[in-house]
Amino acid sequence: MRKFFGIIVMLIFVLAMVACGADDSDEEQSDGNDSGTEETDDSQETEEAAAEGGEGGDLEIFSWWTGAGEEDGLNALIELFEEEHPDIAVENAAVAGGAGTNAKAVLATRMQGNDPPSTFQVHAGEELNQSWVAADKMEPLNDFYEEEELMDKFPEELIDMVSQDGDIYSVPVNIHRGNVIFYNMSVFEENGLEPPTTFDEFLDVAEELDAAGVTPLALGDKEAWTATQIFENVLLGSLGPEDYQALWNGDISFDDERVVEAAETFKQMLKYVNEDHASRNWQDSAQLVSEGEAAMINMGDWAKGYFSNDLDMEVNEDFGYFAFPETTDEFMVISDTFGLPSGVENEEEVKEFLSVLGSVEGQDTFNPLKGSIPARVDADESKYDEYGVDTIEDFREANLAPSLAHGSAASEGYLTKANQAVNIFVTQGDVERLLESLETAMAEE
Ligand code: GAL
Repeated sequence: MRKFFGIIVMLIFVLAMVACGADDSDEEQSDGNDSGTEETDDSQETEEAAAEGGEGGDLEIFSWWTGAGEEDGLNALIELFEEEHPDIAVENAAVAGGAGTNAKAVLATRMQGNDPPSTFQVHAGEELNQSWVAADKMEPLNDFYEEEELMDKFPEELIDMVSQDGDIYSVPVNIHRGNVIFYNMSVFEENGLEPPTTFDEFLDVAEELDAAGVTPLALGDKEAWTATQIFENVLLGSLGPEDYQALWNGDISFDDERVVEAAETFKQMLKYVNEDHASRNWQDSAQLVSEGEAAMINMGDWAKGYFSNDLDMEVNEDFGYFAFPETTDEFMVISDTFGLPSGVENEEEVKEFLSVLGSVEGQDTFNPLKGSIPARVDADESKYDEYGVDTIEDFREANLAPSLAHGSAASEGYLTKANQAVNIFVTQGDVERLLESLETAMAEE
């Protein structure tokens, strides 16, 4: 009887895994944006390449870079890799959803089932360290760094973010800045406005725009991370880089008066967002700015890639940028990295890919399209536009802070709870409840 029960349980498990796999591929096809056909084309090409069967074996690259504003950089990097390694068949296994909203869940299922992709996008910091290194799912890359002479090619602080106990676990492809506000320059000009540098100035500018019938701040929090991102930037401005870090380390409490003030400021800012924010994703909300329906948006600089490459807007002509109020000297760091999961069969091919993405040419092919700056310190600045050159300089000089919304400051478990708390706050505006939820989640860490 027991044996029979065991077989039934096994069957249910197998069926559930099959259903899960089907869901995943659905997700991979769906985008919610305008590039559904492109993706289908990509996956057809991929299947053909795989069917041709590279002698060097297959390489499955897992990320969430699909669709508008996200996939151009990755496609260019893959093309460069294919030129250098025509014998390796690449499978672009991207799963749609900003900030990894869906991809991270698919990845977790695969990692738990010991079915890792050949390599996957993972943020430097806690997302890499607490989710995968701590679970013993990644291979150290120290020898690779030595062979490729990478040790002095990335800022030390960044290598620290992808290291644990002296071992290095991934290769950064870029640096995104998260504390940027992009704005529609004509809207600012028509209303005689200057970029605000303090929270008070921001609220004054927002009030004027509102009176002029323009949505001051575009928000698309169909995926909750976009609102969390605004809140983390307010916290950075209120606390400064050291105490901001201390908050996520549990060394500063959520009833600190500066944190309470930050939540109040965040609440004020939310008064100025578009009414339909809950039904938009980040690209849809960025479009409000490009169309002049909204004036500003707080986005990491993947939005710059979207404005320039997808919407054909000129930087410093059609759209401008400024640091999130009260964070001019700060840099919210978001670094996408790729590593070598334990147990993959094609280790050599993965290292070939990491070598291309870690090279000057790889980084300078990927980043100008992605909107980010190179993680390497010796990249060719002439490949970057004014925004890129400015940001490269800011990155050298600013105080660095790890992003919560993008997985660097705290564990995935904490981030999930923080996103839920912020999402409730956006509709209810209950400061006490928000801070209590964040504190309770911290205690559970
Ligand atoms: C971040 C990621 C960026 C960009 C963004 C929006 O988490 O680091 O590369 O993809 O999400 O999806």
